[in-house]
Amino acid sequence: MSRFAWKGHICHTNENKKTEIFENSWLLCEDGLCKGIYKELPEEWKNVKITDFGDKFIIPGLMDLHVHAPQYTYRGTGMDLELLDWLEKYAFPEEASYSDIEYAEKAYSVFVRDLKNSATTRASIFASIHVPATELLMDMLEESGLKTYVGKVNMDRNSPDIYREETSASAAETEHWISETENKYKNTKPIITPRFIPSCTDELMAELGNIQKLHGTAVQSHVSENPSEIVWVKELCPSSEFYSDAYDRFGLFGGENCPTVMAHCVYSDEREQKLIKERGVWIAHCPQTNMNVASGIAPVREFLDNGLKVGLGSDVAGGSSLSLFRAMTDAIMSSKLRWRLVDSTKHQLSVDEAFYMATRCGGSFFGKTGAFDEGYEFDAVVLDDSALYTPKKLSMHDRFERICYLYPEVKIVAKCVAGKSIELK
Ligand code: GUN
Ligand code: FE
Repeated sequence: MSRFAWKGHICHTNENKKTEIFENSWLLCEDGLCKGIYKELPEEWKNVKITDFGDKFIIPGLMDLHVHAPQYTYRGTGMDLELLDWLEKYAFPEEASYSDIEYAEKAYSVFVRDLKNSATTRASIFASIHVPATELLMDMLEESGLKTYVGKVNMDRNSPDIYREETSASAAETEHWISETENKYKNTKPIITPRFIPSCTDELMAELGNIQKLHGTAVQSHVSENPSEIVWVKELCPSSEFYSDAYDRFGLFGGENCPTVMAHCVYSDEREQKLIKERGVWIAHCPQTNMNVASGIAPVREFLDNGLKVGLGSDVAGGSSLSLFRAMTDAIMSSKLRWRLVDSTKHQLSVDEAFYMATRCGGSFFGKTGAFDEGYEFDAVVLDDSALYTPKKLSMHDRFERICYLYPEVKIVAKCVAGKSIELK
């Protein structure tokens, strides 16, 4: 049995989306699972390995529900276009470069290094259409100790020849890749990844639906992100009642044995939200991308009020920052604009709600993790906020809030995934 105990200011969110901070308390871990929070170290734990982090904060690992690994190379550039033109001009040509395994190796090693050193412990990741580069990324992520889903992207229409697959080859390669990798790793799992409806023919979607049923693999994609995209999907799928119906009719939109995360949902109306709820689909809210490619502001308050599961995504390179703290503060700020400009009856998100999305709620996509409840997988990050010193008297909640807003000035001093320590650079 492997046991250890950490001491510090233990900070997580409860089921009611409220941040709880246990000052100078003990957090116990046994065989990778959280064994609770204690004010005093229990007698029978006195002989385990103990680390006292003093005045530092211990928070759950942050959960990135949506990020594109091959786009990491151009983050922070190409912010001049709306979604569809942005894909055409920046995303597709760059992702096409991953046919070159040497380029993939150079690019993915930087992505994995930075993800490993961030406060993120788990992520759901898009790779490119190329199986060799995707498997290389999976090998690197496995080595990092982070827990991830990785998707070989499927695309058989509406992209340039250099970045489009032939339908049956796309399906056959996906099936083969899933068979090869579904039991290969401890931390890394394949996820079925039709890029979005404009990139996939009905024929390919039907094949992916069959593969999903056969293997019970998770699914990720994009839905209802941008006005021109939504108009296009209506033209491409005249018989679909609304956008997510175009996934649902192929069995690629949640339900039993089909855990699904869908990015964006900026324009998900009542019908779409009803289906999302019925199918238990996780929403990956990606506020930075929604601003960068001028898509709009997702109705997150409505999602939370309606009991939908909403996590956060960095969505690099639509979002330029890999930091989920940035996603949290962007989610709060964009909710204020929605309240001001769109619907004054739906009040803004609080920092507690943003933290809930980044940890407990996003974590539920990966199983029981994202909080320090007993029995949850022990994903934890230790944060030193001493660089934020101020003579002003601050409450513990003030300190927590400043960590979220001023994260680049905060130092990550330790990180654990399912009880395993991650070596930080
Ligand atoms: N929709 C389809 N592909 C993409 C992508 O790479 N990024 C974003 N933001 N939306 C997409
Ligand atoms: Fe995306």
